[in-house]
Amino acid sequence: MEIRNLGVLGCGLMGTGIVQVFAQAGYEVVVVGTAPERAQKSVAEIEKRLMGRVDKGKLAAEEKDAIMGRIRIGAGLEDLADCDLVEESIPEDLELKKRLFSELDRICKPETIFASNTSGLSVTEMAAATGRGERVMGMHFHNPAPVMRLLELVKTVMTSTETIEAVKAWGVALGKTVVVAPDVGGFIVTRLFTPFLLGAVRMLEAGIATKEEIDISMKMALNHPMGPLEVLDFIGLDTELSIAESLYEETKEAKYAPPLLLRKMVTAGWLGKKSGKGFYDYKTK
Ligand SMILES: NC(=O)c1ccc[n+]([C@@H]2O[C@H](COP(=O)([O-])OP(=O)(O)OC[C@H]3O[C@@H](n4cnc5c(N)ncnc54)[C@H](O)[C@@H]3O)[C@@H](O)[C@H]2O)c1
Repeated sequence: MEIRNLGVLGCGLMGTGIVQVFAQAGYEVVVVGTAPERAQKSVAEIEKRLMGRVDKGKLAAEEKDAIMGRIRIGAGLEDLADCDLVEESIPEDLELKKRLFSELDRICKPETIFASNTSGLSVTEMAAATGRGERVMGMHFHNPAPVMRLLELVKTVMTSTETIEAVKAWGVALGKTVVVAPDVGGFIVTRLFTPFLLGAVRMLEAGIATKEEIDISMKMALNHPMGPLEVLDFIGLDTELSIAESLYEETKEAKYAPPLLLRKMVTAGWLGKKSGKGFYDYKTK
């Protein structure tokens, strides 16, 4: 099972980082967004990041050009037809992911592996929406994808051992530390981390501490690089709300129930860093 030509569907926060990881590792990658202009913006962002490293003397200009040369913008799903592996990183919406995988199933060659960057939705349901369940799996990168070393793979009851083993070996070659989780809501990382993040929102909501007190306490006490409310702004509050909703629906455990404040902020359009406002204000920074 050779994994050489890669496709990335969705080029927001995570998709952009994933394209960068793939191209930096020497792979040809086709990126498809909602429109070529959206993908163009994502590619420009990667170039800006790499230019920063060139300016600091951490990357040769020729190497930057070589990385950028491996990224191609696709006009639509048809451009992913010949990929060996397609990673989707579209919004955390199960119906949307199922629909896109079902469309890709008709377009891509039979050998193409479909991987989802979902933070915790059912990969089995995505697999069942295709006719190639043995080649569908979760491939959960962490934010920011080029920096975070963990790659969490998700094996459903349908995923073949051959697929998992091939992607596992490939992930290690990508420079990541790979773990394989079963298809339970939130897998390993999101399942453990979500109650902590939601707890910080509840603490703020209850007036127990200010956002600054919560964040500084966790940073200083636990040596975390970011406080939980800063992390939520970084993840995207809309994404976090979808994660909490799906985990709560699956487990019915109160620790996953989305706090009202989180819902209200999403309704207000305060999505965190990507919208310029979340728990903190980013427009002035
Ligand atoms: N934000 C995080 O910290 C984080 C971390 C790990 C995993 N994830 C997961 O990664 C996925 C993407 O999250 P994100 O934070 O990058 O979200 P995002 O909103 O930043 O990006 C999603 C992108 O998908 C695009 N899109 C929507 N419909 C599309 C379609 N039909 N075809 C092509 N592109 C389409 C949107 O235009 C947007 O650019 C989600 O499943 C999320 O749970 C997020």
